[in-house]
Amino acid sequence: NQSVRVGLMGMGTVGTGVYRLVESHQEDLSQQTGMNIEIARILVQDKEKKRTIDVESDLFTDDPDSLLQDPEIDVIVEVMGGVERTREHILAALQQGKHVVTANKDLMAVHGGELLEEAAKNGCDLFYEASVAGGIPILRALVEGFSSDRITKMMGIVNGTSNYILTKMSQEGGNYEDVLKEAQELGYAEADPTADMGGLDAARKMSILSTLGFHVGMNLDEVDCNGMENVTLEDIEYAEQLGYTIKLIGIAKQDDNLIEVSVEPTMLKHSHPLSSVHGVFNAVYVYGEAVGETMFYGPGAGELPTANAVVSDLVTVVKNMKLGVNGRGMVAPYKEKKLKKDEE
Ligand code: NDP
Ligand code: HSE
Repeated sequence: NQSVRVGLMGMGTVGTGVYRLVESHQEDLSQQTGMNIEIARILVQDKEKKRTIDVESDLFTDDPDSLLQDPEIDVIVEVMGGVERTREHILAALQQGKHVVTANKDLMAVHGGELLEEAAKNGCDLFYEASVAGGIPILRALVEGFSSDRITKMMGIVNGTSNYILTKMSQEGGNYEDVLKEAQELGYAEADPTADMGGLDAARKMSILSTLGFHVGMNLDEVDCNGMENVTLEDIEYAEQLGYTIKLIGIAKQDDNLIEVSVEPTMLKHSHPLSSVHGVFNAVYVYGEAVGETMFYGPGAGELPTANAVVSDLVTVVKNMKLGVNGRGMVAPYKEKKLKKDEE
């Protein structure tokens, strides 16, 4: 088999999972794709840091150019996070004709349009399934599974950390700081966890879902965003006594072509299906005019669930390479956007 050489940018929670999956599923992956996937170089900040898995020390580098400018590297898997510098790295990779897989919603929510355009221009793939709802293949479902339908509503829990914290507070009366620390140790939280609790992480994901589900270029600042930071243990307990659960809910609606997207702490009746989505789990309800109600459920963060989304994207890239059909990926927005709030 011919080899595909991958440059892995980042080896924290997600990068470790990616390395583990590529190594442990090597045989299956090469049978599926007809190519051998080889992690050829790994970019980290600190080459001397002790890692949780055994990796040849020669693979590590702290110089991004040694991946981006290496003509032998075919695919960049970006799981290091960050926005502006990472945008430059990904643009450079695409301009070198390298395909890119990323888990980075911070980046895709703001620069996704530009990066997808650059990918198409260079005949490259750019996939980002892991950027929304971790292990749930929701982006693929929206782009491929609803292409003949018209989605009018998406609603869901798309941040695992805040849901983990809310669940622990409501079920065990856990203290906010302690539970946040647990979520950080489990690798669920962002480097700066204020994006998780402040709703910004969920807003980024809702903007990506709206772009793909409604076929418009949704900007992050068009998402109304209120986070969980002012919800207290007393609020949670009081809501429970009344028969409600408090969840951080993202809603995207399209009525008469007017679009409205928000993230808010919401009281849900105990009988509501989203009220029983607990811990790090996410769920996304999608209503299509033809199909009716659908629901997607699964782990929203964590090492292996997220790595599965990343490596599955990588497999698609490799299959496309084998067929010579890269660069046709995710749909570009083609509809004019009208926001409900601009019409009021
Ligand atoms: P971590 O903080 O665990 O890991 C980040 C990795 O990137 C580390 O290996 C770090 O190096 C490296 N890194 C960071 N900045 C730089 C830099 N400037 N130059 C070189 N290397 C750098 O992050 P996660 O694995 O949790 O998340 C990675 C990405 O995946 C983020 O975009 C996140 O939003 C996204 N994501 C995360 C999920 C999760 O469950 N954690 C789920 C879905 C998406 P070093 O190890 O030396 O410090
Ligand atoms: N911090 C994010 C979350 C990671 O908790 O949902 C997955 O995107």
